[in-house]
Amino acid sequence: MNFHIAVIPGDGIGPEIMDQALLVLKEIGSIYHHEFRFSEVMMGGCAIDKKGEALPQEDLTICLKSDAVLLGAVGGEKWDHLPGDQRPERGLLRLRKELGSYANIRPAVLYKELKDACPLKSEIIGEGIDLCVVRELTGGIYFGEKGRRRGTMGEQAYDIEIYSETEIESIARTAFEVARKRNKKVTSIDKANVLESSRLWRSVMEKVAGEYDDVVLNHMYIDNAAMQLIKNPSQFDVIVTTNMFGDILSDEASMITGSIGILPSASLGEGKIGIYEPIHGSAPDIAGLDLANPIGMILSAAMMLRYSFDLESEAKSIENAVVNILGKNIRTRDIMGEGMHLVGTKEMGKLIADELR
Ligand code: IPM
Ligand code: MG
Repeated sequence: MNFHIAVIPGDGIGPEIMDQALLVLKEIGSIYHHEFRFSEVMMGGCAIDKKGEALPQEDLTICLKSDAVLLGAVGGEKWDHLPGDQRPERGLLRLRKELGSYANIRPAVLYKELKDACPLKSEIIGEGIDLCVVRELTGGIYFGEKGRRRGTMGEQAYDIEIYSETEIESIARTAFEVARKRNKKVTSIDKANVLESSRLWRSVMEKVAGEYDDVVLNHMYIDNAAMQLIKNPSQFDVIVTTNMFGDILSDEASMITGSIGILPSASLGEGKIGIYEPIHGSAPDIAGLDLANPIGMILSAAMMLRYSFDLESEAKSIENAVVNILGKNIRTRDIMGEGMHLVGTKEMGKLIADELR
């Protein structure tokens, strides 16, 4: 089959991890006889430098015409001085919004091979960690009205957390559907003891839960959830939460699985064009040094095959290759442990690609 993929290497370690994901995809293409056509898209700081904006229209158009978008990472200190509406991250937020990718799915799995990289005690890890954060991605405080004004105590700044019923319904459905394919438990996370938007969130979650008798719903406050993730992570199956809380909790969830470098994500909407990106950032401090872990990026490509292209066996074979390589004690620096064999970004990518055969 034929697939057109918009490829956004982005900034920092983005390009080098993307190279490894493309290597793996090319290998999949040749093994399973698929043709992947890649169109490079500029987004982020590199686009600001070359074209003066974070997501130029022509680049957005390529994404809109593609079958799926594969994304490395954007941003870096170099652009930190820019005003909010001109930062590299703005490109990413616009892309998510334009593609209508409201559901960000971030599975967090602790591979038994990486138990030693997990900072939690083994009695806490128990049978292992396997949860999935479903984060609302195109609403909330990220997209609410924001601004500056003069107040009686000097300058004021505000960002409004705002959610509509239908937005909450959509993300709730995604979470319940995901839970149906897993252990049928959804924990909705909010701050309903303080925030009005959370009270609406909670009531809509309850309402949608009525359509899913086979799935159990419980609620938890965000502060408690941050604690429970470390105290007893195996109580979670699917976590559903707002844009901002999901951003924070998914980073926390990644740490207990060993490294933020290994977790992929899929951002889906009504259409089939998903955005697939590792959950980590652009890590400018290690960019170009062949130190980055390409696994999160490679597993994101696997998610793309599964969710946008319906290529389940191809996706599985990438995931198996990753597990096999970890099973052979091969590690990048972020997950390095005693007695393991240390490799760089390129070597890790190549070994995973070779493992596919
Ligand atoms: C993420 C990132 C982004 C976000 C940034 C880069 C805007 O942290 O995908 O988690 O906050 O959504
Ligand atoms: Mg984040």
